[in-house]
This record gives sequence, C-alpha cells and structure tokens, in this order.
Amino acid sequence: MQRTDLSAITLDIEDGIAWIALNRPEKKNAMSPRLHEEMDWLLADIEADDAAKVIVLTGKGDSWCAGQDLKAFFREGVDNPKNAKRLRETSERWRSLRLQGYDKPTIAMVNGFCFGGAFTQLTSCDFAIAAETATFGLSEVNWGMIPGGIVAKALVDSMDFRDALYYASTGEAFDGKRAAELKLVNKAVPADALREETIKLAKTLMAKNPHTLRAIKHAMRSVRRMDYFQAFDYLGAKLAEMRYADPSNGRQKAMEQFLDDKTYRPGLGAYKTEK
Ligand code: COA
Repeated sequence: MQRTDLSAITLDIEDGIAWIALNRPEKKNAMSPRLHEEMDWLLADIEADDAAKVIVLTGKGDSWCAGQDLKAFFREGVDNPKNAKRLRETSERWRSLRLQGYDKPTIAMVNGFCFGGAFTQLTSCDFAIAAETATFGLSEVNWGMIPGGIVAKALVDSMDFRDALYYASTGEAFDGKRAAELKLVNKAVPADALREETIKLAKTLMAKNPHTLRAIKHAMRSVRRMDYFQAFDYLGAKLAEMRYADPSNGRQKAMEQFLDDKTYRPGLGAYKTEK
C-alpha cells in the first residue's frame, strides 16, 4: 500500500501534526474492512515518519465514527468465517496494539457521533478532546449485542464500573460535556474551538522531549497491570533504560540548565532543547 492508495481515510501532515480522518462521511464513518486495512498500514507507516510528531484521529463530516460497519461485520462476515477472522485481527490490531503502544502521542478529536466499536480507538488514544455537541453511545444493547470486540474491556479499564455498566446496559446516548464528566475525554469544547484546542494540546506535547513522552506513556500503561513491587522494579529499570534510549541526552541538558545555568524552572515548563 502507498499513501496515494488511501480512500477510506485521509492524511494531512501540517506543522508536525498528522491529521488522520476517517473518510466515509456518507456512512457516518462506520469502519469498513478497507478502512481497517488502511488504518493498520498508515499507523505503521507514519510511526517511522519524522514529519509526524503528534497524531490526531478525527472524522470527516458530522461523525467521528459510527462503530463497525454493521453490514460488513455482522452480516457479510458471518458468511465467510476465514475472512472474518483476518478482518477481526486487523481491526483490533490498529485500534488496540498499535495505538496503545504507539511511539508518538495520539489525540482523539471527537467531532460528532461516537458509537459502539469506536470506543476502542477512543480509549486507546492517549488523549481525547470532544465537541460539546458530539454524541456518544454504547448502542450494542439496542440491537441485541454486547459491547464486543474488546469494547467492554476497554470501558471497564477506562471508566468507573457503575457508569460503564449503566451506559452499556441502557444504550443511553450522551453528549461531549457528559463524556468529559465521565473522564472518557480530557475535555469538551464548543465545536468551533475543537481544532484550535487540539492544536494547542499538540503544540504542548511537541514542546516536550519525544523520548520522555514515549517512555511516560509506555510506563503508565504497563504499571496499570502490575502490582506495587513489580511496578517499583519496572520503573527503576525503565528510568535506567532512558539514559540510553534518548539520543538527545535531554535529562542531562535539563539538569545543567536548572542546577548550573539556572535558566529554567522544571516546575514551570520544558528545558531548552537546543542547548
Ligand atoms: N454500519 C453501517 N452503516 C452505517 C452505520 C454503521 N455502524 N452507521 C451509519 N450507517 C449508514 C446508514 O445505514 C446510512 O446509510 P444509507 O445512506 O445507505 O442508508 C448512512 O450511514 C447514514 O446514516 P443515518 O442513520 O441515515 O444517519 P443519521 O444522522 O440519521 O443517524 C446514527 C446517525 C449514527 C445515529 C445512525 O446511523 C446509527 O445509529 N448508526 C449505528 C450506530 C451503531 O449502533 N454503531 C455501533 C456499531 S459497533
């Protein structure tokens, strides 16, 4: 595959931000087999592209993502079990494995509908900003399914259990403001400020040492599954590893700027990377 082959998604890289948009607005950006294949390929491709420093995942039109394409997954898929398995793996790979282990920060910019299977990539992105007017829903119950794939797990890992069970059982839709109260997204903003707020967060992230950011996210995701003593040991090893994993030697520069040069305050902002 090449970037010029993409049709179910689009990519624009601008000032370090890679804007990836699901591009099936006529189907409310429901995820088709083709869309999954393109996303799986593109995420791997831009992970190695230095021009892309922060990834933003959004949707064309009035929808972020209406979940899996019901026709392709729950009707046609049943007729072809071999193909269904491959599709299921591709679909989960980019939304769980790739996004959660991604080397660059990822932001979900939720511009509209976010239903069912879309919660997988929503919770896998590192950060999420929603339009106040966006509509979220765990609609599976409304058509006789459970939040399958990995959605039920993603929910209980990222939401309060009572809220997760309530919304999965009632299918009640909620807006961006409620999503922020539930901590499903970091914040909800008026729709016309969504892009600007997203750029602001992306710029904040781009001002940090990318090696440190990568280590923070990998460490924080990993320790969630460890007990106290495992986490203590792991974090010690991770810290030691970072001395070798950061070619810019950022930690040393920061120490010198604070302790020797006295030119910055780590409590108030990032050190100067050019020193
Ligand atoms: N799978 C397949 N097609 C979908 C879809 C999905 N998840 N969501 C929307 N579409 C299609 C509709 O079938 C329709 O196609 P058509 O024009 O060929 O008839 C088109 O997208 C537009 O949808 P429509 O329902 O007319 O738009 P709306 O603005 O009235 O409602 C939604 C938007 C998102 C509320 C509604 O489409 C919906 O409930 N979709 C299903 C959401 C869902 O349960 N997702 C969970 C899947 S895991």
